[in-house]
Amino acid sequence: MNYSEAKSILDKHGQGHVLKFWDTLDAVQQAGLLSQIEALDFKTITAIQALLKAGGEPAAPSGAMKPAPVVSLQASGASVPRALGEAALRAGQVGVILVAGGQGTRLGYEGPKGTYRLAPITQASLFEIHSRKILALERQYQTSIPFYIMTSEGNDADTRKFFAENGSFGLNPERVKFFVQGTLPAFHQDGRMILESPGKLFAAPDGHGGILSALGRRGMLADMTARGLTTLYFFQVDNPLVDIADPVFLGVHLQRRADMAVKVCAKCSPDEGLGVTVVRDGRTSVVEYTELTPEQKNERLPDGELFFKFGSVAIHIFSLEFLIRELSAGLPLHQAHKKVPTCDDQGKTVKPDKPNAYKFEKFIFDALPDAKESLILEFAREDEFAPVKNADGNDSPATAGAAMMEKFARWLAACGVTVPRDSRGRLTVKIEIDPVYAHDAASLAARLPKGFQATGDVLLKG
Ligand code: UD1
Repeated sequence: MNYSEAKSILDKHGQGHVLKFWDTLDAVQQAGLLSQIEALDFKTITAIQALLKAGGEPAAPSGAMKPAPVVSLQASGASVPRALGEAALRAGQVGVILVAGGQGTRLGYEGPKGTYRLAPITQASLFEIHSRKILALERQYQTSIPFYIMTSEGNDADTRKFFAENGSFGLNPERVKFFVQGTLPAFHQDGRMILESPGKLFAAPDGHGGILSALGRRGMLADMTARGLTTLYFFQVDNPLVDIADPVFLGVHLQRRADMAVKVCAKCSPDEGLGVTVVRDGRTSVVEYTELTPEQKNERLPDGELFFKFGSVAIHIFSLEFLIRELSAGLPLHQAHKKVPTCDDQGKTVKPDKPNAYKFEKFIFDALPDAKESLILEFAREDEFAPVKNADGNDSPATAGAAMMEKFARWLAACGVTVPRDSRGRLTVKIEIDPVYAHDAASLAARLPKGFQATGDVLLKG
């Protein structure tokens, strides 16, 4: 793209101001700006301008919402789905997708969130914990499980480097595939894109819903097809408790021939930051917590239970066929009013002290209403969900680390090992079990030496 092509397309979309400092830029800056302009998706930009003009969020489906039906499996009902899930794993039909493109602002940690060191004793990172779970599955089922990791422009290089420096945590690097998500510019209220500096448009990751187009654009769907995958397990980087490619969840999804499946747990309070699963206009959807009214969050049934009781923790299964079909469907945009650094008339970057701009993101769970068949499965929060979102308080490294140790303590208890606790029931030792050593109580029972006692810290490495 050259200057006059850029000018013509920008003028056509009311964005001529983007070239306002052109004559002051050096050749490298000019080339940088042109390549940013070339990468813009003007169809999306036009949609955003229309949204801003209309003054808000895309028109939500109008119908009343009711809670979506949830499947709760008793252990006794799990044997058939487990066998199906295990067969798919053995046949090499399952891949794993991790979204790790977020900026981790709330945690206040520099660097990709997956590099955050969390394990109670070894301080293994989130990426290591996740990767070792996949390695454990590969060994258990004598199979290969490709691992697709979505990064963003800001953390892609650091993420790749972290895996390379750590030998991909034992995984075959040929099966660890990184791909970068897209970005979207930020906008002034009047629909003009924001210049951050004279030669640079402000751009931020396009949300984890950006994964659909990124999977297509970066050749990942073709890679999945070439490897003979049929089923993709999806999760977020911030949850060390996640039960990756859990065969029962895979099996229920396969049994129902679902396009998409969602795992949910009961919310612990009306304000917990979880999207809720609903049926609206006859279609199953997830409504993000930020988009529920206080009345909807707090509504209760006569027995005191929350009306919208179940929250999605962003653990999904997709059929590959559905992901391919959704590529052309396009997901809706969600808007947020944020503080964005902006270039003033003199070309100086100014950091605002209050929200001055609109950022837009896509959410992957907005694919759910398009699924011809979907399912929502309940799980026990203490076994599978303890996210690291904040530096302290709820959903922090401290709560996630404690939840990991309690889970390991339950496995040890199931093997007849008592772990030391104080008079208030709190653990007095640290416990860490490498997923490759054991990934549940049964695999721990098979490995634990006879007469094992937990007298001090317990570290079991694979
Ligand atoms: C998210 C979910 C919420 C769910 C909760 C469970 C969204 C919008 N909401 O909330 O419904 O109940 O987790 O913990 O996701 N990411 C990208 N690219 C992006 C933005 C995010 O890859 O552009 C990734 C992050 O790296 C992270 C995940 O998506 O793995 C979630 O992002 P985050 O911003 O932490 O979402 P939450 O608000 O915590």
